[in-house]
Amino acid sequence: STAHPFYGTGAQAGITTPVQRYSVFMTFDYTGVGAADLQVLLARWSAAIAQLMQGKTVGEVEPERVDAIGKDTGEALDLEPAALTVTVGLGPGLFTDRTGLADRKPPLLRDLQLGDTTIKPELNGGDLSVQACADDPQVAYHAVRALARMGKDSGSAATRWTVMGFGRAAAGKGQSTPRNLMGYKDGTRNIFEADDLDAFVWTSDGPEWTRGGTYQVVRKIQMHIENWDTDRVSDQNNVFGRHKVTGAPLTGTQEFDEPDFAQQDASGSPVIPATAHIRLAAHETNGGVKILRRGFNYTDGINQFGFLDGGLLFLSYQNDPAHFEQLQSRLSRSDALNEYITHIGSGIFFVPPAPREGSYIAAGLFA
Ligand code: HEM
Repeated sequence: STAHPFYGTGAQAGITTPVQRYSVFMTFDYTGVGAADLQVLLARWSAAIAQLMQGKTVGEVEPERVDAIGKDTGEALDLEPAALTVTVGLGPGLFTDRTGLADRKPPLLRDLQLGDTTIKPELNGGDLSVQACADDPQVAYHAVRALARMGKDSGSAATRWTVMGFGRAAAGKGQSTPRNLMGYKDGTRNIFEADDLDAFVWTSDGPEWTRGGTYQVVRKIQMHIENWDTDRVSDQNNVFGRHKVTGAPLTGTQEFDEPDFAQQDASGSPVIPATAHIRLAAHETNGGVKILRRGFNYTDGINQFGFLDGGLLFLSYQNDPAHFEQLQSRLSRSDALNEYITHIGSGIFFVPPAPREGSYIAAGLFA
């Protein structure tokens, strides 16, 4: 099975890597002292991730002294690397007096300013993010578990919140477009080209260690899928501005036809409605902004009322968090989709570029 390299000269793996089938996302509170514990944690996590992405363990499963505690928990033994990627992000809370790193903050890293009222406190923020993606869910879970264990044992990182994604809801370059839990193709007009990645995703200024990195926004978006399922398909199509089966814009017949936002029907109404998700989100209408989306479907089973509880683990990458804010503010004001979704979790992180072989994530931060 595929093994992706962890070390490199560009971005961390797991951003433009072809989207895997499963994902486990987790955030952590930093519980260490000063900057030194953080440095050790990132070094240890990096070494572990490099091993894990090769399909190896993070140490012995059954130590020679069998009354000792195993370094690796063992559940990924005999499983292939399964295209595992583990992507690590740094939250705004790391760059404070607590660590003495306040003046080292990646220039645009700060809490999102959206005036959100629906985010649950227990699903908000975090000092570190870990996004593990793999084609085998057990491989992804094992990776996060191994890092969580290292964080806890060293007293440096405590788990905060997590989402388990069970199916990809975004296409990377050359991949067929998967569907979200509303039944629509998601990722049709994502960022695929290198020019757009340079213009909208990778940072090009700021301190040396941050260059070629990106800002990660995560939103746990609950879908009211039982309501959605009672809506007629013509209405659903109007919510997105696309056809359900083909994924074509309402002004076209094929998935990749360009949406024509100017086209009107016989009565003079826009064919892609004013409140359609794609009209509000498209760069043609939003002031030229594009973001890279790499989300996953999730389910939390059934809620306390017996309703099916699922949604979208929305993940986007952009070189300026204001781009996400700009888009989300537009959507929160007028998107027809709002009737069927609630944003319940949120976080923002800076994802430093991949470390070179022999180094570790964000090493330059401590130089
Ligand atoms: C497009 C679903 C939330 C930004 C789309 C499309 C679907 C979709 C089906 C059309 C296919 C495509 O081009 O990918 C959803 C669902 C959401 C959600 C179900 C929530 C549960 C968001 C959020 C943002 C966003 C929070 C950003 C703040 C975009 C963008 C496009 C898009 C930029 C491409 C528009 C274009 O250029 O045509 N989304 N989306 N979406 N969405 Fe969302």
